[in-house]
Amino acid sequence: MEVERDLHMMKGIDQNSYAKNSSLQRTITTQASPVIEESAREVYNRLSPKCFMMAEMGCSSGPNALLAISRIIDVIDEASQSINQQCPQFGVHLNDLPGNDFNSLFDLLPSFKNAIEAAKGSNFTPCFVTGIPKSFFGRVFPDDFLHFVHSSYGVHFLSQVPNGLVSENGEALNQRNIYIAKTSPPELHKAYYAQFKKDFTLFLSSRSREIVFGGGMVLVFIGSFDSDDHDSIYELLGSTLHDMVLEGLIEKEKLDNFNIPFYSPTVDEVRKLVEDEGSFALNKLEAFTTDWSVDTSQNPEIRAKFVGKTIRAVAEPLLTTTFSPAVIDNLFLLFETRVKVRKAEKRDEYFNIVLSVTEKE
Ligand SMILES: C[S@@+](CC[C@H](N)C(=O)[O-])C[C@H]1O[C@@H](n2cnc3c(N)ncnc32)[C@H](O)[C@@H]1O
Repeated sequence: MEVERDLHMMKGIDQNSYAKNSSLQRTITTQASPVIEESAREVYNRLSPKCFMMAEMGCSSGPNALLAISRIIDVIDEASQSINQQCPQFGVHLNDLPGNDFNSLFDLLPSFKNAIEAAKGSNFTPCFVTGIPKSFFGRVFPDDFLHFVHSSYGVHFLSQVPNGLVSENGEALNQRNIYIAKTSPPELHKAYYAQFKKDFTLFLSSRSREIVFGGGMVLVFIGSFDSDDHDSIYELLGSTLHDMVLEGLIEKEKLDNFNIPFYSPTVDEVRKLVEDEGSFALNKLEAFTTDWSVDTSQNPEIRAKFVGKTIRAVAEPLLTTTFSPAVIDNLFLLFETRVKVRKAEKRDEYFNIVLSVTEKE
């Protein structure tokens, strides 16, 4: 697996696409909206730029890509009216990896522009939108270019599967699993954390060069309640793959050597990395939980389908780097059954971290 090439959400707008199966992420952005809006308003009040430059990093495709941006434009419009100022122009930079479905994303831009024009009427100011296919682990923009950065459900992905997941005698450390699980050896957790530390620190230092002094950034991503309790949805997907190994549907070696490039840090790990990197003042670091399914139906069948389709829209392109596309339908059928059975045993939810910082250098 080469993450920069292989990581992308399911493309297009069909029934398995990310565009049609990302209402969970939409809900999470909505839940984090008060923090995003407050931070953007503060940046505007502090800097009052003629053109407010913002980046949506890890934007993906589908309607979520423009959700936070729309809210920020509204908030800044309101803030400018409240001080009798002309609303600034907006530079909107939509960033994701090169494999992202930018074509579907660009198809949404005319209706995005029409909606702003309809809402703002004569107060409408130009909004310049660009797409930037590049990894956010490293420089994406020139120095002092941005006033505000938002990223939701992107920075828990790693730039690569961590090194060191194989023992000295060549055995896979993470047999039967695809991510840190309760039975995983401590070296595995160490290797994952080391990769996250490197990537997240590079993300912060790159953004600190690109964001102007006094500019802001809000990141929302999956975390862990504590370091022994990692995101369990990938543990469940791993054990479903293991069932398929036992049934002879998947080769054992393939599962043993497949690991997700993802890490769910604790709040304390994030705080320490922000402080150690040192470029940003920390405004808010909060956590909230969201049920695996935001479907309002309590029907276990519908709930399990929702959870399966949400994860499939994210993970299928990575899974098919190793497993045959022919096993994917079956994998998610079995996965949904496991989600259904499990409901009675345990509360299943995403632990989300929301981080709001201000550039201080
Ligand atoms: C789960 S999607 C979230 C999309 C959208 N922000 C939302 O909330 O619905 C995560 C996105 O982050 C992108 N991503 C992951 N690693 C990235 C990287 N290194 N650089 C840029 N984008 C990245 C993925 O390609 C994917 O489109």
